[in-house]
Amino acid sequence: MLAVSFLPAVPADAAVLVLLSGPGDGLAGPAAAADAASGGALARAATAARFEGEAGSIVELLAPAGLSCQRLLLVGTGPAEKLDALTAERIGGAITARLLTSGETAAHVDATGVLNPEQAAHLAHGGQLRSWQFNPYRTRLKDKQKPSLAQLVVVGVPDAAGPHARLAAIAGGVARTRTLVSEPPNILYPESFVDKALDLAGLGVELIVLDDAEMRRLGMGALLGVAQGSVRPARLLAMRWNGTGRDDVKPVVLVGKGVTFDTGGISLKPAAGMEDMKWDMGGAGAVTGAMHALAARQAKAHVIGVVGLVENMPDGNAQRPGDVVTTMNGQTVEVINTDAEGRLVLCDAIWWAQETFEPEVVVDLATLTGAIIISLGHEHAGLFANDDGLAEQLRSAGAAVGEKLWRMPIGEAYDKLIDSDVADIKNVGPREGGSISAAQFIGRFIKPGVKWAHLDVAGTVWATKPGAVHDKGATGYGVRLLDRFIADNFEG
Ligand code: BES
Ligand code: MN
Ligand code: ZN
Repeated sequence: MLAVSFLPAVPADAAVLVLLSGPGDGLAGPAAAADAASGGALARAATAARFEGEAGSIVELLAPAGLSCQRLLLVGTGPAEKLDALTAERIGGAITARLLTSGETAAHVDATGVLNPEQAAHLAHGGQLRSWQFNPYRTRLKDKQKPSLAQLVVVGVPDAAGPHARLAAIAGGVARTRTLVSEPPNILYPESFVDKALDLAGLGVELIVLDDAEMRRLGMGALLGVAQGSVRPARLLAMRWNGTGRDDVKPVVLVGKGVTFDTGGISLKPAAGMEDMKWDMGGAGAVTGAMHALAARQAKAHVIGVVGLVENMPDGNAQRPGDVVTTMNGQTVEVINTDAEGRLVLCDAIWWAQETFEPEVVVDLATLTGAIIISLGHEHAGLFANDDGLAEQLRSAGAAVGEKLWRMPIGEAYDKLIDSDVADIKNVGPREGGSISAAQFIGRFIKPGVKWAHLDVAGTVWATKPGAVHDKGATGYGVRLLDRFIADNFEG
């Protein structure tokens, strides 16, 4: 990821100069000065390119006469009154995307008199987020294809370093999540997921790991039923961050679905696209990255992340459609479809978390249903909640960071759909409203009085196209949302 720094002035030898301009009449500030030095070339280029100062639009000049830089980018900011944190991030992302494989190694953004510290910090944040790529297995990349840009220097806004430090901690969490989500499933499986989280201890996170024997002792028959078709043993990982300085503060519990690969089990998925199911641990990845972010910025909150880690495989020992499993809280589940495995993992992980940590608030994240993608596409994740206040806290946190949520209904009538004729519950309802009956299933494992929200992130953890602050591939969805949710509601 791009290194960010802040300087008072542009050094004479800066190779790439980035100047900012909003819509309206003509260039101002550093852009006007560069235009004058270049004999009006900048303004002529802007006109020729039909540049109108829209946020993130770019005009690029190579070897501009009269200036000492090798490359000049004129970048639109949009109207000043609309330059909020997300817009600043989008601008930083656009600059980075343009330069990432340009051969340039550093870019200097002269924001003197244009951006305030908060805006400058978010511009740099957007640049860092957009620069992340996952290339460890691409051993034959040509030099031209490799990211060259290593440094983003924001000039003229010295007070931006403070707000940026906090955002850099969050970006570290996002990067961790994206790496977890991107790793292939032969590399990332329950045990290796745990191994890759152990270094969180260095940030002050306390780790608790349950192995399969311990989970059997605790009676987690639903989670273990999913894992039994795989040679990879299951794990449950809890990550605790208490930044309150007190031990009597009830924690917020975040729970993530960590299916490191989902073949569907005996209810086998079709071959086409099955490789995508490596990111069926995106909820667990987000929870882990959020714990990183909270610890790295020393959040003044008590938060526990719990991830249920299994691989859903169809071997001779795999569970069958028709099996009845007993969950940790004693409810029996008829497994109608072994591909509806996420809820089986979550129910035991969530029950254990409630028994162990006695939270007042539980938020789970899961790539739970294909149906949520049919409902919401890739713009919003689905939000299900038993409490309107909690739902609104999450929705507004998501809106603030650009990780959008859309509220979905739950209720009695939907709940009936998962009553079983042979057990207490069945693990699938009808095809219609499939995301909702999945949520109802989880809801049956929430203790009375606990505020609970479920985020179905199946459509948002992976992107087939680049976005404003991510490349194609793992988005890191959920980390910034959870971080903001904690910051706004539990650090008072
Ligand atoms: N991991 C999948 C959900 C999923 C599908 C995520 C496509 C991302 C893209 C989940 O375990 C699953 O298979 N769900 C089934 C449920 C069905 C069997 C009731 C689904 O959505 O088809
Ligand atoms: Mn599945
Ligand atoms: Zn799944």
